[in-house]
Amino acid sequence: MARDGATYVCQSCGASQSRWSGQCPACSAWNTMVEEGGLRPPGALAATRPSRARGLDFEGLSGDVRSPPRLLTGIEEFDRVCGGGLVRGSALLVGGDPGVGKSTLLMQAVAAAAQRGATCAYVSGEESVDQVRSRAQRMGLSGAPVKLAAETSLRNILDGLKRSQFDLVVIDSIQTLWSDSHDAAPGSVTQVRAASAELVRLAKREGVAIILVGHVTKEGAIAGPRVIEHLVDAVLTFEGERGYPFRVLRGVKNRFGATDEIGVFEMGDAGLREVANPSALFLDTSGERAAGAAVFAGIEGSRPVLVEFQALVAPSAYGTPRRAVVGWDSGRLAMVLAVLEARCGLSLGSRDVYLNVAGGLRISEPAADLAAAAALASSALDVALPQDCVVFGEISLSGEIRPVSRTEARVRESAKLGFRQVLGPRDAEPGPLKLAGVARLADAIARIGDGGWPETA
Ligand code: TYD
Ligand code: MG
Repeated sequence: MARDGATYVCQSCGASQSRWSGQCPACSAWNTMVEEGGLRPPGALAATRPSRARGLDFEGLSGDVRSPPRLLTGIEEFDRVCGGGLVRGSALLVGGDPGVGKSTLLMQAVAAAAQRGATCAYVSGEESVDQVRSRAQRMGLSGAPVKLAAETSLRNILDGLKRSQFDLVVIDSIQTLWSDSHDAAPGSVTQVRAASAELVRLAKREGVAIILVGHVTKEGAIAGPRVIEHLVDAVLTFEGERGYPFRVLRGVKNRFGATDEIGVFEMGDAGLREVANPSALFLDTSGERAAGAAVFAGIEGSRPVLVEFQALVAPSAYGTPRRAVVGWDSGRLAMVLAVLEARCGLSLGSRDVYLNVAGGLRISEPAADLAAAAALASSALDVALPQDCVVFGEISLSGEIRPVSRTEARVRESAKLGFRQVLGPRDAEPGPLKLAGVARLADAIARIGDGGWPETA
């Protein structure tokens, strides 16, 4: 029964309604509607002030338009994903699974920025000051002039930040904050939204760069991030596969830079280490390449990254064959399988298919289609691809191999890592490599089946 004035807010997507329901009508999640305090009456709002419209040309300053001042942490992988450093007066959200290493990353970033002369604060709502300190000590950062606070009250945090002028402030995490002007529980959409909005406002007003940490729920959304993503200027996610030491920082939204950038780190005993050359990390260049493996020459953001696609096509023990994919899109896999079946006569319909991107990286480029198809065909035919061959190319539904962007960077990186030939679109410019050009997927499969490579190893 709906009470007067009560609002029920979905904790997954932030939709609100006046009645409780078991399923959210907006995002269809179950048991996520929670009663939260309603909006304040308009009378409670502050006095109004008419807004003033201004020209695009900075009021006659045209020709002297400055780019936003950047604050560099000196951690290159981090600065690059931010779009060339943090922007003063902006708010950045870093999301990720609990335990992936967000606190570690941001402690390192804040310490590095402090060592370069910025005044920095790290506010933890999850750990005590001593815990944060001892972690920093283990990472060899205890000498960095970072101000620490353990605080969850939004009012205290805002007061503290207003009193001293900081360049950079990390709030770890938004889910622990609570504002006493709302009676909803900490971590609820209302609290997360209210606290974030206050902090963003403070960032703009005081010219501070604020980094908010947000945990991702098991559904894949930071609790409340859909509700705060539009409030912040940039959203980064920190990802990593369990069992791998590699962590990838990825831009999702950025008002001040490109969003397809990634930063790669390796988690060790003394915190995160930057990985400047990810290809060497994701690729096992020693030993023979087995049947079912294909090296994809990909582009992540501004950098080429080589990764291995591994496929296993096996007889199915069940009526419905299994399809499992890690690191790639399952819809894309279904499409490639359909094209292999319909255009190349490779029958996989009754077999189990497993596809894995080695190293825990997630690939979303369409240019990876041919690499996935080559790995699948290699496994199905039980023929290994040449050791020194990289693959790229987009596959259309008609089975054609389409050209991909930035071929030059792909082949340059491949040549640097010792590869000598490329299986790719027929008109690709192979640079120092030899091109095994294919116009159709069927040609690629035929080549894999009966050899005929430009370079015979
Ligand atoms: P943490 O930064 O606390 O994760 P988050 O803030 O995203 O929840 O990282 C926790 C994990 O990282 C923990 O499982 C231990 C590991 N770790 C290391 O392996 N080495 C280190 O130097 C540190 C600080 C953490
Ligand atoms: Mg943490």
